[in-house]
Amino acid sequence: MELPVDAARISRELDTLAGFTDDPAPAVTRVVYTPTDLKARAYVRALLREAGLTLREDGLGNLFARWEGARPELSAVATGSHLDAIPHAGRFDGTVGVLGALEAFRALRAAGFVPLRPLELVVFTSEEPTRFGVGCLGSRALAGVLTPEQLAALRDADGVSVPEAARAAGFTAPLEAVALRAGHFHAFVELHIEQGPQLEAAGVPIGVVTAIAAPATLHLTLTGSGGHAGAVLMRGRRDALLAAAEVALAVEAAALATEDPDTVATVGILDVHPRAVNAIPNRAFLTVDARDTHEGRRDALVARIRADVQEVAERRGVAAEVVLVNADPPAACDPALVAAAERAAAAAGLPSQRLVSRAYHDTLFMARVCRVGMVFIPSQGGVSHRPDEYSSPQEVAQGVEVLARTLAALASE
Ligand code: GLV
Ligand code: MN
Ligand code: MN
Ligand code: MN
Repeated sequence: MELPVDAARISRELDTLAGFTDDPAPAVTRVVYTPTDLKARAYVRALLREAGLTLREDGLGNLFARWEGARPELSAVATGSHLDAIPHAGRFDGTVGVLGALEAFRALRAAGFVPLRPLELVVFTSEEPTRFGVGCLGSRALAGVLTPEQLAALRDADGVSVPEAARAAGFTAPLEAVALRAGHFHAFVELHIEQGPQLEAAGVPIGVVTAIAAPATLHLTLTGSGGHAGAVLMRGRRDALLAAAEVALAVEAAALATEDPDTVATVGILDVHPRAVNAIPNRAFLTVDARDTHEGRRDALVARIRADVQEVAERRGVAAEVVLVNADPPAACDPALVAAAERAAAAAGLPSQRLVSRAYHDTLFMARVCRVGMVFIPSQGGVSHRPDEYSSPQEVAQGVEVLARTLAALASE
């Protein structure tokens, strides 16, 4: 089957989508349920309708666009990704898996393909943790990992809960109906940029993911004693920022200590109070993002970081509150889906290589409800979560072709 993937069209659409941003180009900032996110969703919804797909949205704003199969009673083959972007991100993370899936559907239809099973394109709400602190909000809820009660307990920095924010954004369907029953989907395949350097370094255009690393997040609040920066003497201070600084270095040391490149840990947010030039910080808030391909080693890393926080806190006389926000197991891709993606790459005449995803994706949670697979395309310089994130139109189109061929095979099962 010849597949007329239109590289120029999807590039144009990615460019248009990148225009929905709260920071000036080339940065993309698109946080869930903001007016900018809603405008981006409206743009994508219109494209999906134009392509003749039938749309459904759940109470969180997860969007399902369906291409009916010859056997509508069979479980659907699903694909998709996310539209939200962290502050000062790029234009390809998530969006390639949404617009790429649409282009895959269009190419398959133009080639005369008739799916036996229905095909569904899923746009997941808030894959990024920016607003509510937890990544993969939509897919977690679809997998039943976040219940309506837990969603109601999640609040943003202004105290707005997830259900309140979803309703204000126009998503009013009951949250009780979000979770999918096991077997709802036949399989799920996500197209995504690699966000790392392996494919570019190997000169290979297609990555076939075998597993997704296990992520965890900690929120730390350190409370010491503030005061006048001139009048309070150095001895006996209980400076919360200095404790946080030691914790951040301990996080780095803990990750390096495993001596395995698959262990990573990052302090991405550090806020101090009262944040004045001439006041000793009395409170510090920091986040720790800790990941490993091995769950046991990730858990040991988290335990060591917790112990280090206690040690620093006691020595510096600050109180430490530690909240484990999430600690998720890794996910394995289904061997049959890995093989299907590899066959699809070969059919497209493209070399492929297997790799592990160190970034997490909605696929991590879809793995709880169906068999999953992922297809990666190269990221220039291995760069992501930065405005200069880049994959060429040709690389995107190649990923779309492999996705389309994988979906065609699965939808014919
Ligand atoms: C996804 O953005 C991740 O943080 O892995
Ligand atoms: Mn991301
Ligand atoms: Mn992503
Ligand atoms: Mn992400």
